[in-house]
Amino acid sequence: MSADKTTSWSYTEGLPVEDETLLRARERSHELGVSAIGAATGALLSVLAASSKAQTAVEIGAGAGVSGVYLLRGLAKHAVLTSIDGDIEHLRAAKESFAEAGFPANRTRTISGRAADVLPRLTDAAYDLVFINADKPAYPLYLEQAVRLLKSGGLLIINDALDQDRVAEPAIREASTVVLRQVGKAIRENEQLISTLLPTGAGVLVAVKR
Ligand SMILES: C[S@@+](CC[C@H](N)C(=O)[O-])C[C@H]1O[C@@H](n2cnc3c(N)ncnc32)[C@H](O)[C@@H]1O
Repeated sequence: MSADKTTSWSYTEGLPVEDETLLRARERSHELGVSAIGAATGALLSVLAASSKAQTAVEIGAGAGVSGVYLLRGLAKHAVLTSIDGDIEHLRAAKESFAEAGFPANRTRTISGRAADVLPRLTDAAYDLVFINADKPAYPLYLEQAVRLLKSGGLLIINDALDQDRVAEPAIREASTVVLRQVGKAIRENEQLISTLLPTGAGVLVAVKR
């Protein structure tokens, strides 16, 4: 990458300014050892949620609520975000973050449990947006479930799609990297999906279900 490209990337990553609510959600994430999305990825989530006019959204991997607050800020006024996390402490922190951001309890539905157990219980073609940011080995399953859950025109967003910049290096064969390469390929080859891979943050894969 040219030095100019690196500078431009750092510039765009540094543009969004977070308010007190997000900074506190970030602090909760830090205290719990959760790796939250960066501010530029958050801004992208808000824009995607707003432009999709989503009424129903699911996030797999709530953490302490940073990504959820960004999604809720973009979602329509009465839209509901379903946040799934296997760690009850993380979900508790996420709920605090949502409340502190001023979202009433009826705008969020938090579900505690392994996503592999929770997702099959959610209704087919009932969601406008699915955001994946959890345990990478399970991403092929989450992809399958996300395609099932999304309505036609719905949006799939996968964070850290470049697996800490390892995906583009063919010699790297880490398990998570291999999984993300496979998931990226499966999405590109899926005729139900139109996709793009953005270099924002740790890499964000965005796809629309036809
Ligand atoms: C990277 S953090 C999510 C950060 C959050 N999206 C944010 O940006 O604020 C990943 C989260 O996924 C949760 N997680 C990991 N494996 C899971 C699983 N199998 N089912 C449900 N949640 C899981 C972890 O407890 C953690 O809170």
